Amino acid sequence: MRALMLAGMVAGIVAGTLGFAPQTLAQDGSAVPFPEGFRERLRLYAVIDKPDRKIVRFLYVGLPRGATAPREGCQLPEGAMLIREERRAVLGADGQPMRDPAGRYITQPDPFAISVRVKRAGAGEQFPPRLRTGDWDYAIFHGDGSRRQFNTTQCVACHVPLGARVDYTQSCAALGEALRDARPARPPARYDSPG
Ligand code: HEC
Repeated sequence: MRALMLAGMVAGIVAGTLGFAPQTLAQDGSAVPFPEGFRERLRLYAVIDKPDRKIVRFLYVGLPRGATAPREGCQLPEGAMLIREERRAVLGADGQPMRDPAGRYITQPDPFAISVRVKRAGAGEQFPPRLRTGDWDYAIFHGDGSRRQFNTTQCVACHVPLGARVDYTQSCAALGEALRDARPARPPARYDSPG
């Protein structure tokens, strides 16, 4: 009962009516609309400083209204959405990223790229059989929300090695933690990228 209640609360926190109509699938991800208002509607679950590229990546998750968060692992239900927002670090006079008092990179206010994964029945069929991540669909947008032309098979190629056990996510540990944490005000997980 408690687990059910918690799951319900979490679903409430991360829910949003994402409203995907069935559309023609295409390899440039054009069936995936830009996720308007994602910062307000989805939950930020990880922030990653990338020293090699002097950027910061923000990861968000959203579940469709009424969906239950998984009790373990990070298998997401149909309609789930994952977003990776990328912002450039503000550079100091030495050309290195400036840091806040906690030692984390300070970022530009606007992103330069927004990558989206959406789980939707049949979406996997647009990719070659050996390059499938279940029913995840992919798209990438410029910071202003306009679609970036990109062969999304390349997205799949990088996510497929993670395997079905983690639902082809690159960030299962932080994601699972956020899905099972019902405290809305908890700060997002931060971890340093190895490179
Ligand atoms: C070079 C490998 C690579 C490619 C290509 C790639 N990704 Fe990822 N993706 C990652 C890694 C690594 C992470 C974990 C976060 C991080 O360190 O950036 C990630 C995380 C994500 C996340 C956050 C959820 C998760 O799975 O952990 C989304 C959403 C995402 N990628 C979407 C895309 C989309 C859309 C494309 C194609 C436009 C794409 N990715 C292409 C490596 C890749």
